[in-house]
Amino acid sequence: MKEQCPVVSTQYDAAEEVGRELRTLTRRCVPTVHMRLLFGNGKTIEIVGPANIVEETTGAIVNAANSSLFGGGGVDGAIHRAGGPAILAECRQIVSKIGRLHAGKAVITTAGRLAARRVIHTVGPVYRGGNYGEAETLGSCHRESVRLADEHSLGSLSFPAISTGAYGYPVSDAAPIAISSTADALASAQHVTKCRFVLFDVATLRAYERAAEKLSNSTSLFRIEKANS
Ligand code: APR
Repeated sequence: MKEQCPVVSTQYDAAEEVGRELRTLTRRCVPTVHMRLLFGNGKTIEIVGPANIVEETTGAIVNAANSSLFGGGGVDGAIHRAGGPAILAECRQIVSKIGRLHAGKAVITTAGRLAARRVIHTVGPVYRGGNYGEAETLGSCHRESVRLADEHSLGSLSFPAISTGAYGYPVSDAAPIAISSTADALASAQHVTKCRFVLFDVATLRAYERAAEKLSNSTSLFRIEKANS
């Protein structure tokens, strides 16, 4: 009897391990859409998470890059690691032609091995207290990214929470700017019909949901559909 205990316990551990892997796989394959912002013209913004943007299958994913375009940590590092060296090679070519990319601007490259078709690299503002044009620059990152995707006839794109990591932008301030500037650009896009905010952690996800709810009270541009409604 005594000898059976470890065996039973091992089987239990194995079952638990399989369960954990299945849950991880499910999470990886089907990131939850928590909220949809539905616009009158059929366009949508989705708020998704917790999720990894490198797994997106949209026309383009947006990279929160730095001005050198030579890669870095955070979402930038994740995108270059998953997409492979072709992305960095094209970034180097772009910098050799136009120089460093200014904050608020965006450029487009191949997506290498990623499922998305293209990567749009934009440079968010470094947060310095809010009185240095950070809001305008952050809005420009979103508008420029949508414009560039549209110029390349892409139907959808996915954003991370630009500037809210290493660049220190408080997410409760960044989220309404990200959503409203994306909504503005989406309204006038010819090809882009869907934008997704793919958020890495629950706190960021909740901040985006709160911002969307607050915005919906002051605009008739969109209505909100929640996942559990
Ligand atoms: N998928 C989605 N979101 C992610 C991922 C991922 N794989 N990895 C990180 N994030 C989230 C972070 O949790 C944060 O909410 O992206 C958001 C932005 O964080 P950063 O990547 O730090 O971007 P940012 O604040 O704009 O700073 C840019 O960081 O690594 C450097 O080269 C980059 O210098 C640049 C700076």
